[in-house]
Amino acid sequence: MRLLVLGRGKTGSLVAEVAAERKHHIEVAGATENPACAALTPEKLRDIDAVIDFTTPHTVVPHIEAVVNAGKNMIVGTTGWDQDLDRIKTLVAHHGTGFVYTANFSVGVNLFLDVARAAAAALRHDYSGQIFERHHVQKKDAPSGTAIAIQHVIRESSAPAEALQITSFREGDVVGLHEVVLESGHDRIYLCHDAKSRRGFAEGAVRAAEWLASKKGFHDFKDIWREL
Ligand SMILES: NC(=O)c1ccc[n+]([C@@H]2O[C@H](COP(=O)([O-])OP(=O)(O)OC[C@H]3O[C@@H](n4cnc5c(N)ncnc54)[C@H](OP(=O)(O)O)[C@@H]3O)[C@@H](O)[C@H]2O)c1
Repeated sequence: MRLLVLGRGKTGSLVAEVAAERKHHIEVAGATENPACAALTPEKLRDIDAVIDFTTPHTVVPHIEAVVNAGKNMIVGTTGWDQDLDRIKTLVAHHGTGFVYTANFSVGVNLFLDVARAAAAALRHDYSGQIFERHHVQKKDAPSGTAIAIQHVIRESSAPAEALQITSFREGDVVGLHEVVLESGHDRIYLCHDAKSRRGFAEGAVRAAEWLASKKGFHDFKDIWREL
């Protein structure tokens, strides 16, 4: 495939590396090459099969609008734009393009969501719960998109009166650590996912681009990762 990777940062650069290893043709645009979406005109995207975005919460929505309006498929890993999700779903449906989004492209975290979903039953048995997340100090959004996804799946499966509280820590170079703690008067359950590197995110994003090649519509990675 011919892939355009937006973002030369910690994750975008790994995505380009993994995509090259998987024999795709790669172009990369960082902030310098893409002011005001300059790299995303219909002419520039003509020969591109899909665009993968790992940039910033402030730039990602204009990127999405430009790519979808140009009729191209898109894989978005950038977090912190949930307020625009419904509008983007409508835009994708209108243009008949393919789109995959998740706050976390790691297969391990998606398995962890299933574990959290099962453990949420505790909230119907006098347990209270909390979510903790730790990331490196440069991370721009808090709470993390993954912590919000964990909060959603727990809410969906146990319907607690209030969403579990999320506490965020920003320290050192932590790649991403998420904990769910469920506590009763008698015991405590700890669930923890600790990312050792960004490689899992990059592999998930590239494999999602391959999966999307023959598809249309807006897809959440948590619903499709088993098919990769
Ligand atoms: N979904 C997942 O699995 C997952 C995993 C990891 C991270 N993330 C998310 O992905 C995003 C990026 O994370 P990161 O850790 O890689 O951040 P990062 O190291 O700060 O990289 C962000 C990059 O975005 C580039 N950028 C900014 N504006 C741009 C524009 N208009 N066009 C193209 N590139 C632009 C920057 O380019 P310059 O260097 O040129 O300024 C920078 O290299 C964050 O939102 C993070 O939460 C998601």
